[in-house]
Amino acid sequence: MEKAALRKLTSLCVICGVAGIALLGIMEFRDGKREWKHFQIEYKELLLKKISRDRNPAFYERVLGMKPEIKQIVIDDWGAVDRCVSCHLGIDDPLFADTKQPFRTHPRPELLKFHPVEKYGCTICHGGQDLSTTYQGAAHKTIAHWPVPMVEKGLIQSRCGLCHKDFAAIGADKLVKGREIYKEMHCAGCHVINRQGGAVGPELSAFADKDPGAFSYAALEGNHSKQNWVVEHFKNPQKVTSGSPMHLPALNEYQIECLSSYVLSLSQRDFPRQYVPKLRPDFEPPKMDVVVPEAELSNPDDDVK
Ligand code: HEC
Ligand code: HEC
Ligand code: HEC
Ligand code: HEC
Repeated sequence: MEKAALRKLTSLCVICGVAGIALLGIMEFRDGKREWKHFQIEYKELLLKKISRDRNPAFYERVLGMKPEIKQIVIDDWGAVDRCVSCHLGIDDPLFADTKQPFRTHPRPELLKFHPVEKYGCTICHGGQDLSTTYQGAAHKTIAHWPVPMVEKGLIQSRCGLCHKDFAAIGADKLVKGREIYKEMHCAGCHVINRQGGAVGPELSAFADKDPGAFSYAALEGNHSKQNWVVEHFKNPQKVTSGSPMHLPALNEYQIECLSSYVLSLSQRDFPRQYVPKLRPDFEPPKMDVVVPEAELSNPDDDVK
């Protein structure tokens, strides 16, 4: 009797042990598949080839001892935890200027000098899912209703406008041009920006802050992101919002990028002082032409102020 119980207990222990080992194995296997780990191992190998043991033995030893770990930049000021640098490991290291992605040095190193990585992170300019540590699953793919998915290359200036109101001072040519087109096409006849304009269409002063869930994607070609909605809507407002009274001439790709960048830059977000660029003392926010829509639309050449 006792012997039988003991045998039962022993086999139970063995089963538990085997199951435990198997579970550990599975975890280890899944862990090993984490993309960021592979990138970090590769990065370490690349870095070791670029530095010299003789010239800086202490640094070399430190690199040699590097273990894969999630790297992140925490920005309390807007609640971001950017893990992009878990893969983009050489982003502010000039040694990686010619290396393949995701290790390559940032193409605009001067921007990272003005906006240090540890203070700004990446998503404030690029969008994307801050916490994500996968390429496919999250960071680079547009995900429906994510507030700001990875910003398309042609629209990245929209993000500069969140903080910079003097577009010309930072060379944001698309924002300058977008604002010009806005004026030329008399968009202000129907839209209000900063209390200037007519109220036929929605106010645009905080268009960048508008929730992506507030748009209808039913008639949209391509991915269901707010960025794509804006681009497609400028191509053909009636196709995206059936019956829209917003009629536009056919615009070319550049004009669409400029207008989209511009409206996606219009934000009322408050940043802490250290993130607000100083303006030249003589800077004046440009005026929109405040006009009665009907008069303006029927008489577009009048330069009414
Ligand atoms: C799992 C690793 C990984 C993470 C995490 C990651 N990236 Fe990348 N990223 C890559 C790789 C790999 C490429 C190169 C892809 C290619 O060339 O096809 C890339 C390319 C890019 C590019 C170039 C354009 C493109 O999409 O190919 C940008 C911009 C970029 N990443 C920004 C970011 C930002 C911002 C984050 C954080 C939200 C981020 N990445 C997080 C691996 C990563
Ligand atoms: C101040 C805004 C800003 C910040 C902060 C910033 N970037 Fe960029 N990034 C840009 C701009 C602007 C470009 C140039 C895009 C272009 O030329 O089309 C760029 C380009 C890139 C590219 C090359 C894109 C391509 O298509 O080849 C990568 C990769 C990239 N950034 C990754 C990052 C990562 C990772 C971080 C955070 C460590 C970061 N950036 C932080 C503004 C920023
Ligand atoms: C989160 C806010 C923020 C964002 C987003 C941002 N910047 Fe800045 N930027 C700043 C601040 C703050 C400074 C420092 C300026 C100062 O001290 O007056 C600065 C400085 C600069 C400078 C140095 C010249 C100057 O005017 O002082 C340039 C150029 C610049 N930014 C370009 C850009 C570009 C291009 C983008 C978009 C890709 C961008 N910034 C996005 C906040 C931001
Ligand atoms: C005749 C009036 C009229 C003119 C002119 C006009 N719009 Fe509109 N716009 C509207 C109306 C109405 C809507 C809402 C219906 C829709 O989604 O198309 C709208 C929607 C929008 C939206 C989406 C706003 C949101 O919150 O959903 C943007 C962005 C926009 N317009 C930008 C522009 C720009 C830029 C121009 C100039 C190139 C312009 N509009 C010209 C009437 C107009």
